Amino acid sequence: MKHTWILLLTLISCQTKEMAINIKSNDYHTAASRTDARVQHLSLDISVDMNKHIITGIAKYKLSEDASSDTIYFDTKDLNILAVSDADLQKSLQFKILKKDKILGSALEIILNKNTKNISIEYSTSENAAALQWIDSSFLYTQSQAILARSWIPCQDGPGIRFTYDAKVRVPSSYLALMSAENPQAKNDSGVYYFKQTRPIPSYLMALAVGDLQFKSLSENTGVYALPNQIQQCAEEFSDLPKMLSAAEKLYGKYQWNRYDVLVLPASFPFGGMENPELTFATPTIIAGDKSLVSLLAHELAHSWSGNLVTNATWDDFWLNEGFTVYFERRIMEAIEGKEYNDMLQVLGYQDLQEELKSFGKNNPDTKLYLDLKDRDPDDGLTDIAYEKGALFLIHIERIVGREKFDEFLKNYFQSNAFKTMDTKGFIAYLNSNLIKNDKAIADKINADAWIYHSDLPNDIPSITSKKLAIVDSTLTKFTKGEKLTKLNFKDWSSHEYLYFIRGLPKELSKEQMDEIRAKFNFATSGNSELEAAWFEHAINHQYEIDYPALEEFLIKVGRRKFLMPLYTALIQTEKGKDIAKKIYLKARKNYHYVAIQSLDELLN
Ligand code: BES
Ligand code: ZN
Repeated sequence: MKHTWILLLTLISCQTKEMAINIKSNDYHTAASRTDARVQHLSLDISVDMNKHIITGIAKYKLSEDASSDTIYFDTKDLNILAVSDADLQKSLQFKILKKDKILGSALEIILNKNTKNISIEYSTSENAAALQWIDSSFLYTQSQAILARSWIPCQDGPGIRFTYDAKVRVPSSYLALMSAENPQAKNDSGVYYFKQTRPIPSYLMALAVGDLQFKSLSENTGVYALPNQIQQCAEEFSDLPKMLSAAEKLYGKYQWNRYDVLVLPASFPFGGMENPELTFATPTIIAGDKSLVSLLAHELAHSWSGNLVTNATWDDFWLNEGFTVYFERRIMEAIEGKEYNDMLQVLGYQDLQEELKSFGKNNPDTKLYLDLKDRDPDDGLTDIAYEKGALFLIHIERIVGREKFDEFLKNYFQSNAFKTMDTKGFIAYLNSNLIKNDKAIADKINADAWIYHSDLPNDIPSITSKKLAIVDSTLTKFTKGEKLTKLNFKDWSSHEYLYFIRGLPKELSKEQMDEIRAKFNFATSGNSELEAAWFEHAINHQYEIDYPALEEFLIKVGRRKFLMPLYTALIQTEKGKDIAKKIYLKARKNYHYVAIQSLDELLN
């Protein structure tokens, strides 16, 4: 009897221990965590049907040898799994598709034979594959981050699992295919393209684009891909890319990937940019004609270190990807454009953070840097907390220890953790042993726990100011007091100053004042997406309907969620606006990517 109890207790404690491992150090957004069997290399062999909007093919995985488990788990979402086999013996393996979870999709459970080293999974995608955006039969692109790779490739879809890959992709012969890998630079007649990614990457960096694309070189190892009618303009807009790359290398060490190219996508792309290795995906809304929005490229480039080289272990650690990247992005911009330019970016970012904190409300756990996304969509973590609070924390450390010391620390951080994952605890430990080094005074000043594990902002945050934007403040004051715009000085203002100006306009503006601003600047059709979106928000809040046709055109064309959400949200504040929003959405919805549709369906139900 006594023994039975002991046995039972041991069993329970083992079980809780195992659960604790799964919950603490493992990623609850991937089924792969259920056992320790891991993939090591992917050989993808797929055909892309541009008319039927389906990808079919085989994902062949080489398993990592240290795995002792007899079962392996993959993630799938709306995939049709047609067959699973031992790729060496060409004998089928027993598999099961587990019950579907709305967020996670369905786990694929495969029973391994004792000697299974390679697995082949034959599959096809479904019509509503979340990662895929098909634009008629002319274009296809993927968006895998955070957990959508599983909707176009069966994979171990957690950021903590890395693998190398090669791919063979068949497309109709008038298209070029590109991936997050070594890429072709021109179309061939066969429509068959081969890819190789020799550095281990997590699944969220798997990417594919298919279209009538052209390449233009910007330097020996950088270039841009776009549709033929956009390629020249894109190349001109992005001409600073080689400079950004050398600035980045000078800061935090050699670029560890093969090339750095940018693919400019159709306007429906739901994000500003996506750091797919060797081939950043970018929205065309950063083409403003005056290079004023290219800091976005500095951001995606910076991910080649923060994110792609040192990767957040789980989506709870997302700030390690994005906070570091925002900090790094601004350092690149400072290096090529100067301090005053960077100060403007910093202040605008700080405004975003204030707005985000306000909308979360005090004491909201989602304003902690270290998140708890259990049972939630990791997309919920995609807020300015990770980006701007994360970056502010690093500025805070920089100001305490000095820039020189902090740069050296970061350079070593990227080097010693290259091609590995990092979780929040690991970062704190690294910070303690490599920067703080038992100096209690420094540790107290940095106060990492408060920044990372507490909501809101600590008391002593770095002060963020900009000389140039202070001038805009005084211009705003004069305008608010009734001075005419024609009497005020806007000489040499950049788009950042204008953006700050639009954001700072008083909440209450008379129709005359709106007309005055419109007559002077015509932001609604300025061709600068940031200014357009910021202006439309005012137009909506003041029911300034003269600019609604431009607003409608914008919402139908642009699928970038960062612009869509505030505009639709502003619209639905009034009854009339609600109708307008629904009417526009009815026309626009088919142009949006799944991730934008998800958010908007919820908003507009
Ligand atoms: N990696 C992100 C985009 C992302 C994050 C997609 C999480 C899906 C889930 C990318 O690097 C990014 O941050 N893009 C920003 C631009 C940036 C300048 C802040 C965007 O899309 O707005
Ligand atoms: Zn980013």
